[in-house]
Amino acid sequence: MAVHLIEHPVVHDVLCALRDTTTRPDVFRQMARRISLLLAAEATRDLPSRAVTVTTPLGPAQGHRVSTDVVVVPVLRAGLGMVEAVLEILPDARVGHIGLQRDEHTAVASQYYAKFPGNLTDSVVLLVDPMLATGGSAIAALDLLTQTGARNLRLLCIVSAPEGIALVEARHPHAHIYTPVIDEGLNAHKFIVPGLGDFGDRLYGTT
Ligand code: PRP
Ligand code: URA
Repeated sequence: MAVHLIEHPVVHDVLCALRDTTTRPDVFRQMARRISLLLAAEATRDLPSRAVTVTTPLGPAQGHRVSTDVVVVPVLRAGLGMVEAVLEILPDARVGHIGLQRDEHTAVASQYYAKFPGNLTDSVVLLVDPMLATGGSAIAALDLLTQTGARNLRLLCIVSAPEGIALVEARHPHAHIYTPVIDEGLNAHKFIVPGLGDFGDRLYGTT
């Protein structure tokens, strides 16, 4: 498995705003979108493209257009804070959804929803879930996508824990992880430390 640590300074600047406990939901949503756009750009650096000719007002110009199908899959609910940014740079991407909820006491994720576009076999699948903590949610999502036929899987996370990285590495060695940071670890409640708290609650003001 490849872990791609995103070192772009703007990514880390935005991450500070997301971590800051005084950041209110409106700014948090804006920052989530900004960092997701940058992560998506990094995660799609190697997308196949085809040579094309376009006509500018001054004549023909050679260029390249993305030539592969991309599917973006947010893990509900927190992943919804990332999906629009991906669609901004890849407007033709198809969208699937997976609903997963961690139990408050056990931190075990259970699935309550799934809907994917057809035929994922040759698609580049961008699974977007901002927090990779125990890795339980990521594994559930990757298992489901693999069973559905997806083969080119890329997980985009805003904050990761070593435990989650290790689990994905063990269970989905061919998946790629794009993340700016691997934090210290998990606390007794399976929250990432220092992390940023509950991403979904901060995104939607449900604290
Ligand atoms: C959060 C987060 C991830 C998951 C990560 O979702 O968005 O999906 O926890 O934790 P894990 O790696 O230990 O599985 P949560 O279940 O809190 O649901 P929400 O997005 O609806 O807030
Ligand atoms: N989910 C979150 O939103 N934050 C964590 O730290 C862990 C799981």
